[in-house]
Amino acid sequence: MIHHLRAAGTSFVLDARGTGVPVVIHWGSDLGALSPAALDALADSQVPAVGPSSIDSPLRQSILPVMADGWSGRPGIAGHHESATSCAPAFVLSADELIEAVSLADPVEAGLRITLAAASLEVRVDIELSRDGVLRQRIAVTNTGDDTYSLASLDATLPIPARARELLDFTGRWPRERQPQRRDLANGTWTRDSRHGRPGHDNAFLMVAGTPGFAFRTGEVWGAHVAWSGDQRLWAESGSTGLGLLGGGELLDPGEVRLATGETYESPWLVSAYSDAGLDGLAGSFHRFIRSRRALSTRKVMLNTWEAVYFDQSAERLIELADAAADVGVERFVLDDGWMIGRTDDRRALGDWIVDPVKWPDGLHPLVDHVLDRGMDFGLWVEPEMVSLDSAVAREHPDWVLGAGADSGADSDADGTLPLPWRFQQVLDLANPEAFAHVHAQLVALLREYPIAYLKWDQNRDLLGGSAHRHTAATYRLMDALRAEFPALEIESCSSGGGRVDLGVIERTDRVWPSDTNDSLERQSIYRWTAGLVPPEFLGAHLGAATAHTTGRTHELSFRLATALFGHAGIEWDVTTLEPHERDAVGEWVAAYKRYRGLLHSGDVVRSDAGDAARWVHGVVAADAASALFAVVAMTATRDAVVGPATLPGLDPDALYRVEPVRLGAWPRVVQDAMPPWWAEGSVTMTGRVLASVGIPMPLLAPEQALVLEVTRVE
Ligand code: DGJ
Repeated sequence: MIHHLRAAGTSFVLDARGTGVPVVIHWGSDLGALSPAALDALADSQVPAVGPSSIDSPLRQSILPVMADGWSGRPGIAGHHESATSCAPAFVLSADELIEAVSLADPVEAGLRITLAAASLEVRVDIELSRDGVLRQRIAVTNTGDDTYSLASLDATLPIPARARELLDFTGRWPRERQPQRRDLANGTWTRDSRHGRPGHDNAFLMVAGTPGFAFRTGEVWGAHVAWSGDQRLWAESGSTGLGLLGGGELLDPGEVRLATGETYESPWLVSAYSDAGLDGLAGSFHRFIRSRRALSTRKVMLNTWEAVYFDQSAERLIELADAAADVGVERFVLDDGWMIGRTDDRRALGDWIVDPVKWPDGLHPLVDHVLDRGMDFGLWVEPEMVSLDSAVAREHPDWVLGAGADSGADSDADGTLPLPWRFQQVLDLANPEAFAHVHAQLVALLREYPIAYLKWDQNRDLLGGSAHRHTAATYRLMDALRAEFPALEIESCSSGGGRVDLGVIERTDRVWPSDTNDSLERQSIYRWTAGLVPPEFLGAHLGAATAHTTGRTHELSFRLATALFGHAGIEWDVTTLEPHERDAVGEWVAAYKRYRGLLHSGDVVRSDAGDAARWVHGVVAADAASALFAVVAMTATRDAVVGPATLPGLDPDALYRVEPVRLGAWPRVVQDAMPPWWAEGSVTMTGRVLASVGIPMPLLAPEQALVLEVTRVE
């Protein structure tokens, strides 16, 4: 039959008539209600002409493109039975079922399960369209032959139309993650591979194909993301066949997945969406989808100790810091790296998750008790997947170090050669059940001894060996086990900053650390692009010291406060050193964050396309459009002395709004002889339509300054 899944402005039509692999007829704009006869007519009408010098039947883009169907582009599945001479399976459809939901308790509008069979293989394709228009696909392959099947790749694919000829994806480095790159989609394959054992700082993150010139608020866009925290591949392809596709899946090493008879490999989800309203439309669908699956607790203002004290820990010093944090309104105190036995620097002690009796003679109790007394809850940094060679665990169990022990478990591919050290550390072979049990037991002991509300789960190196597949699966198992045993526990995913920001880890964590930089200028762009997929409430945003530790750039407090307001706010600064006026400013900012977080963590992210390229405007508009918070940001010196009005998109066009500047600690620095006259009134009132299309003249901000605007519907 023909399946038509519809939700939130999106249609997905799959022609599963006959015995061939089902063909994707459409993924894109909503086609409206179509009767079975209309669907038949649609599917029939889309059969293309037979091209010259080609197979003798029309070439179709199936849900699993393979050579046996005439497909000469990248295949959906590649692999071989080890004794076989041919590796080109020919699939037939064995079942297509409409199902309510194929995964957990999801807000799924419609789900489909397609089963395909070839000689010695069975493939299951799960397709879900969520109520928010997010399309997910996951593929499982089972070896039904007598011989071992070695899987090379298994990618979910989706068609993109010929008019989607421009591509956007991301790259980056520590600590400048998720920077956009754009290009035309010419014939060929644009592939982004991640081989870090984690997505990595240069991860493609989200691949978007769109109509030329697509922008935040305009254009048709089709975007895809691989929801997996290990090696992965995301790609777009266009060929002389006239067909184009987006694809993605786990990146497997040769021999990494070898399926014995009856064994199954299941791919991660390829999470995709379509919008006719540009990148903000995509972000809206992704955010609503993620929010419907993960109900987060109120995002407490936290203080993280890392850039405040680094490894210089003592109860006295940290109690003083906790007091200063509580005084400005902090609600969660997170003790970062340096608390474990012998951890005087980053060269030792990973893997020994025991409190250092030298730095902490009475354990963490004096600090934790004090933190709780001051009305905050307590969080602790851990890096459970890692081991220092200078640690008790590595000395007692050298074979638990990834790559070290040739006998470290049935799955092990260790040959006794350690991967190159990275940040002076190695990986603990979590796929080894004994190593897993060790770290699990140590973490459980900590969680039982101390009232730990929050773990900052760090991961500071590329794997460079072993199996990224097995390591990632074991990491997920460890996170899942702890979450099951401690249901109130929150986890932050950190990986040298933003090396592991993906929807696989977000299924099991409550926050990601987008970057190690607290430099506000860097953070503006990291937030701008990371929020294109991940909702702001998951994105840690810290107020750092005036001179950023990662860049040496100095920013005024008001810019740092305005930047760290958008996201899950925190402080990573030695607040015991603050001048009284700084303390007052930080206290006001914390109060403002608490006032606005309900809006910031539930509304729609909007990013304006208009204006001087040096001036960015972004905001969050409440779901009912009754209020909004915007930031007007001078990223560099503007081209013109007087920049035109700033437009505020995304509001209800017919409603009237009052726009008021918000003083965060101090007003931003300006370079002008006089303010725009409306400033003297304290606010300006206009319709949403006028705000979006005409805008408001702004004070002329100096470079690296931001002005926050509160927008309230008045009628
Ligand atoms: C890297 C993280 O990204 C930092 O925030 C900090 O936790 C350090 N590791 C600690 O070693």
